[in-house]
Amino acid sequence: MKNVLVIGSTGQIGSELTRELRKTYGNEHVVAGYIKGAEPQGELRDAGPAELADVTDGELIASVVKRYHIDTIYNLAALLSVVAESKPRLAWRIGIDGLWNILEVARENGCAVFTPSSIGSFGPTTPHELTPQDTIQRPRTMYGVTKVTTELLSDYYNLKYGVDTRSVRFPGVISYVTPPGGGTTDYAVDIYYYAVRGERFVCPIKEGTRMDMIYMPDALKAAIQLMEADPSRLVHRNGFNIASMSFGPETVYQAIRKYKPEFEMVYDVDPLKQCIAESWPDCMDDSCARREWDWAPVYDLDAMTRDMLDKLSVKLKG
Ligand SMILES: NC(=O)c1ccc[n+]([C@@H]2O[C@H](COP(=O)([O-])OP(=O)(O)OC[C@H]3O[C@@H](n4cnc5c(N)ncnc54)[C@H](O)[C@@H]3O)[C@@H](O)[C@H]2O)c1
Repeated sequence: MKNVLVIGSTGQIGSELTRELRKTYGNEHVVAGYIKGAEPQGELRDAGPAELADVTDGELIASVVKRYHIDTIYNLAALLSVVAESKPRLAWRIGIDGLWNILEVARENGCAVFTPSSIGSFGPTTPHELTPQDTIQRPRTMYGVTKVTTELLSDYYNLKYGVDTRSVRFPGVISYVTPPGGGTTDYAVDIYYYAVRGERFVCPIKEGTRMDMIYMPDALKAAIQLMEADPSRLVHRNGFNIASMSFGPETVYQAIRKYKPEFEMVYDVDPLKQCIAESWPDCMDDSCARREWDWAPVYDLDAMTRDMLDKLSVKLKG
């Protein structure tokens, strides 16, 4: 039986990953790690253990790991792309100094570590169509700089110290439980909220700007499946490309209009978000993930759209 610590459990991905891991390994075996000011609420707080786990405090992380006999850490602490541009020093402290603390605790206590990378680890000189697994990574955002460093440092701890580090490059994650935390792909979540509320959506990303996206159930499946994968099959370790769907604003708009024909969208492009979006892949090649650990997404744009509209209709009514 695994004992798991989720760091950043109250964020967009953490809130749902913690619940999924508790379903898989049992409530008592999954600790929801949080920071002051972002305490878990409701089911997340009540269903299993919850502990302060700030990545900038290595001793605190070590004490939680020892107390709960943790063997697997999902480290989701980060500042997302748009926020990181306004607080680059803090983004580095959380993303990299924090990761260093976690990898040290993992080395001393024999833990496996999952620290996600992102499509943001690529930059303008990366091939944009079918972006290969191993390719140019020269991002020009602080978010991207921390993500490339995350991949390299995680690989280093695996090669040098044998720490079992693994990760994927998440596309923009679309979900209806916890709102996104300030990334470039947030528009693809927001658009569904506007559609369900019957309001006109003002899109900050230019028509024709394609990016990889993934529906939350597939993102959770990827993280857990990779951490459960047979290590002898893994040629890569950190930063697996995972693809599921790729679209621009006009395509998701049309997908929603199929079910809500009255829905309206206009554009008011945000220069920072647009600049970041244009530097990211249009669509990634995920054949390594498929080959090495049987990655296969379930949701396409239409299936996700139906589910998002159904779930948000219930949520926003209540
Ligand atoms: N959501 C996406 O679309 C997306 C896409 C690609 C990669 N990712 C990556 O997935 C991970 C999780 O993303 P998310 O969308 O859930 O982000 P989020 O912003 O919603 O959540 C981040 C979490 O980190 C916590 N946190 C902040 N500072 C911390 C610290 N010092 N110590 C411990 N925890 C701290 C926050 O309280 C929050 O719970 C991040 O590494 C992110 O870069 C997310």
